[in-house]
Amino acid sequence: MSTSDDVLERMEWLVAALNRYGRLYHEQNVSEIPDQEYDRLYRELETLEQTYPTLRREDSPTMRVGGAPLEGLEPFVHEVPMLSLQNAFSSQELEEFEEKIRRYLGGGPEVIAYRVEPKLDGLAMELVYEDGVFVAGGTRGDGLTGENVTHNLRTIATIPLRLRTAPAGRLSVRGEVLFDLPGFEKMNDRREAEGDKRFENPRNAAAGTMRQLDPKMVQGRPLRFYAHSAGLLPPGVEVASQSELSALFSSWGFLVDPMSDVASGMRAVVSAVERIRAQRSSLDHEIDGAVVKVDSFSLQDQLGFVTRSPRWALAYKYPPERVRTVLEDVLFSVGRTGAVTPVACLRPVRVGGVTVSRTTLHNEDELQRLDLCIGDTVEVERAGDVIPKLVQVVKDAAHAERSRVRYPSACPECGAGLVSDPEAAAIRCPNELECPAQLRRVIQHFASRLCMDIEGMGERLSDQLVGVGLVRRPSDIYRLTLEQLMGLERMGKQSAQNLLEAIETSRSRGFDRALMALGIRQVGESTARDLARHFGTMDALRGASAEELTAVEGVGAIVANSVVGFLALERNRAEIDALQSLGVQFRPIGTGSRSGGLSGKTFVLTGTLPSLGRDDAKRLLQEAGAKVSGSVSKKTDYVVAGAEAGSKLDQATSLGVSILDEAGMLALLAAARSPG
Ligand code: IVH
Repeated sequence: MSTSDDVLERMEWLVAALNRYGRLYHEQNVSEIPDQEYDRLYRELETLEQTYPTLRREDSPTMRVGGAPLEGLEPFVHEVPMLSLQNAFSSQELEEFEEKIRRYLGGGPEVIAYRVEPKLDGLAMELVYEDGVFVAGGTRGDGLTGENVTHNLRTIATIPLRLRTAPAGRLSVRGEVLFDLPGFEKMNDRREAEGDKRFENPRNAAAGTMRQLDPKMVQGRPLRFYAHSAGLLPPGVEVASQSELSALFSSWGFLVDPMSDVASGMRAVVSAVERIRAQRSSLDHEIDGAVVKVDSFSLQDQLGFVTRSPRWALAYKYPPERVRTVLEDVLFSVGRTGAVTPVACLRPVRVGGVTVSRTTLHNEDELQRLDLCIGDTVEVERAGDVIPKLVQVVKDAAHAERSRVRYPSACPECGAGLVSDPEAAAIRCPNELECPAQLRRVIQHFASRLCMDIEGMGERLSDQLVGVGLVRRPSDIYRLTLEQLMGLERMGKQSAQNLLEAIETSRSRGFDRALMALGIRQVGESTARDLARHFGTMDALRGASAEELTAVEGVGAIVANSVVGFLALERNRAEIDALQSLGVQFRPIGTGSRSGGLSGKTFVLTGTLPSLGRDDAKRLLQEAGAKVSGSVSKKTDYVVAGAEAGSKLDQATSLGVSILDEAGMLALLAAARSPG
């Protein structure tokens, strides 16, 4: 290319073409050109932009690729406040809504036209455009000021960076950012496979995602934006109704929910609301109701607002979704402590946007309450973020003929007779480590992050090691050899070596974590730590009576009896001896100043630290003898603050408590460790 005019023209063409392909792909799932061709054009544009950086356009698809991470989120002021909606829960309230409108208008038109839209259960967002180009966007916040998340919004493919027909002037478009549900489930499966935690529900995940400081974390997450209202409209944009505005949004290149419709009069509104409700479980995004808006803008203007919400709109909230399916089976699963829990296997069904095929039935009481039979039709409900719940059986004629699901009398894994533990409202298999199901979970617990933290030894490997008989009790982990590990299915030499190294390191996690790893009932993280600190070594703990144990702060009679009972059993004593002889440390790690350098100091952690997880930071501090507390007071010595630190940081400032960042905390730890 010879002149910069040619370059400019080519770049314009590339931007327009790539944006068009992108839009078709994301909105209609249509690929007009092969992927390789798209990639080739994209790379050509990238090269031109690198050569002529001043010619890079705001609406170039390369602008969507995350830039540098931010230090923190800036406030985002809404030029026109973002209001909320009044709620209704019954069709009677819809009638009352219209009555109030009529009263206010002193009559009004014979039939009022309403626009009925799904109430999208996402994250409210405002996008600002200057002369048709996306310049900034932010969350709703308190309606007046939210947070500026422009860097993340840019990565969302369904947010146009330039509007198709650009109105001159300033425009703000409002709508919801939400996850597409199939994409959300896939993302969660991938996270789980990679050892990350699953997100609990799409709404919270969307909120967390949009507040990320690094847009690279957001890029590629299956988020969409739907437009539903306007804050500012530039002069010259003339629309007379909500429906016309929505049509304009579509023509500019925004997604608008396709189920929205105009209904004339309340009867039509009620059926539109019901029509949307009926489709709820088959949608690929979450909705939690319908929004009913007076369609005409001139009527809207006459009606105006009460405090924080418009008189011309109402959110009709649906009750939690309930669907029917068939109970195909009930399994009894055996946990780490032998508790046997019934699990319902359902014919897969979509409810509240997720596919359910299993759900816990908790315990015997719940099983009796439900009065279940295999083959029954059952109702399943998913309320907001909670796990789907089997609510009730449909008591039809067939139900009466079937036989009830009962607890087995023998353990489904090892055949031992089950015993009831009324105190814990549980039914248990008494076979402990001789029961393969309990052994698998004991091994998994022993190796887990808060216990011995053996990297790579999660559920799958624990099952495998127990399954092939290499591990019969925790101490066997420390007897594993390279040859044995390499003989396992799907285990190469490198992974086997890595695993052995991880096992090696785990020997010296310290008394508190080794104690917790033993899985003594009632002894969780904090009790294990208190006991370890008080007694110092396993030998001292073993010699202690129940009374001596209750002298430890936070240890009551139940915990004390559980510990004494565990340590009295010969097989447990033998296992602890075996672990000790294999090099597992049941004493504090490090000596002198190293372990106690920060003793007497109280820390509070807040916000997200750049490299350490909360658990890691806490452990490091505790290993150095410090106390980590959950709230800030005058007794707090240091507050360690990370990104998005909240009120605790404010409290620290007002109480004059020293504030550290991660680096400062690590420096303090290093100083505490060095002698003298
Ligand atoms: S119109 C005056 N339409 O619901 C408010 N809002 O409580 C005009 N929402 O946070 C909003 N779906 O973001 C409107 N189709 C829809 C909506 C919708 C969800 C959200 C909105 C706001 C909340 C109102």
